[in-house]
Amino acid sequence: MNFTHNQFISLSLSALAVAHLAVVVTAAQAPTPGTAPAQAARERTGEELYRAACATCHGPDGKGSPKSVVGFDIELPDFTDCSFATPEADLDWMAIIHQGGPTRAFDRMMPAFGDALTEAEIDRILGYVRGFCPEANWPRGDLNLPRPLVTEKASPENEAVLTTSVRSTGTGSVGNQFLYEHRIGPRGQYEVVVPFNLQEGAAGTWSRGLGDIALAYKHALFDSLSRGSILSAGSELKFPTGKERSGLGGGATIFEPFLTLGQILPRDGFLHAHAGLEFPLATSGASNEAFWRLAIGKTYARNRFGRAWSPMVELLAAREIASGETTAWALLPEMQVSLSTRQHILINAGVRFPVNERDTRGKTFLVYLLWDWFDGALFDGW
Ligand code: HEC
Repeated sequence: MNFTHNQFISLSLSALAVAHLAVVVTAAQAPTPGTAPAQAARERTGEELYRAACATCHGPDGKGSPKSVVGFDIELPDFTDCSFATPEADLDWMAIIHQGGPTRAFDRMMPAFGDALTEAEIDRILGYVRGFCPEANWPRGDLNLPRPLVTEKASPENEAVLTTSVRSTGTGSVGNQFLYEHRIGPRGQYEVVVPFNLQEGAAGTWSRGLGDIALAYKHALFDSLSRGSILSAGSELKFPTGKERSGLGGGATIFEPFLTLGQILPRDGFLHAHAGLEFPLATSGASNEAFWRLAIGKTYARNRFGRAWSPMVELLAAREIASGETTAWALLPEMQVSLSTRQHILINAGVRFPVNERDTRGKTFLVYLLWDWFDGALFDGW
């Protein structure tokens, strides 16, 4: 390997940070003569450890030291910026502190502390780093649970999702839906849904074109990291932009208020619950509908910090609000996997099986590609 002069200085700096830390920690733990080791080993606080191990680069105030101090060009994160710091889950930051920047496709100037610090020390440092964001009303990224194929998440997010669905029976139909989500302030998020569909007609000819475009706003009403819960309310307006005659659209403007809950379960499990109503505004024969959806899953990560696999199953129910109508139930087993090292590009695939009315409703294959655009450009972080 060839290092430039600057790289050499910076690498020495990170080696020095780890070595310096080793001295600080050992000194703190060395028993003084005549006292029992357990009494002498005073625990260093998160702040003391941060000052010893992190402050050279990240700055005593958490804003990042200037280039003149660190000697390298890589921009340091600003831990006091809540819009940047709160969406990052503890697990991602733990991974970076344990194993160094490259474990999440960041720069190797961020050293690995897994050998120099204990698990408890890293926890305390993280607790201190979390304190740099001065505003408490930002829901934490830990509550941003893996996204199911159909059920809406409660956590506001910055994501782009491309979903394709293919029906197995009846007339042929391929739906593509592009969804763009953008956070507004600490608790809000708007989204735009643009579907592009392919629909087989009665004579075997295919129509293709724009479906019904939708706009939505979602707001986090309640969140608690200690309880592992987040609750949001939102509403969506769907416009009849798709041609109804060709089967590409529903032909009515629809107003859809909804509630959605995310809950962390023990052992890396999670649950989403989502319920809402659909009211066609200018009635054109379409009827009011209610839906409720439940998704349960669990995340497995290779060596704790590696690629994340999240199997889930969704239970989907919808019913027209009119007497005598039956509820349509469906089950949707699926698997979400992170593709990029940064874990900002994910794929999820599953099959929706009708539980009742199976002769009229077929299976649907669904797959999405998700890009958490706030965490890195599409081709960065692999
Ligand atoms: C030698 C300098 C250096 C030291 C010492 C250092 N870091 Fe870093 N750290 C960096 C750099 C540079 C980055 C940004 C890497 C990038 O953006 O590619 C970074 C990134 C991070 C991130 C990721 C932020 C994000 O973008 O999600 C965290 C978290 C972090 N450091 C925590 C720590 C903690 C905690 C310590 C002390 C235990 C520490 N760092 C010590 C240089 C350092």
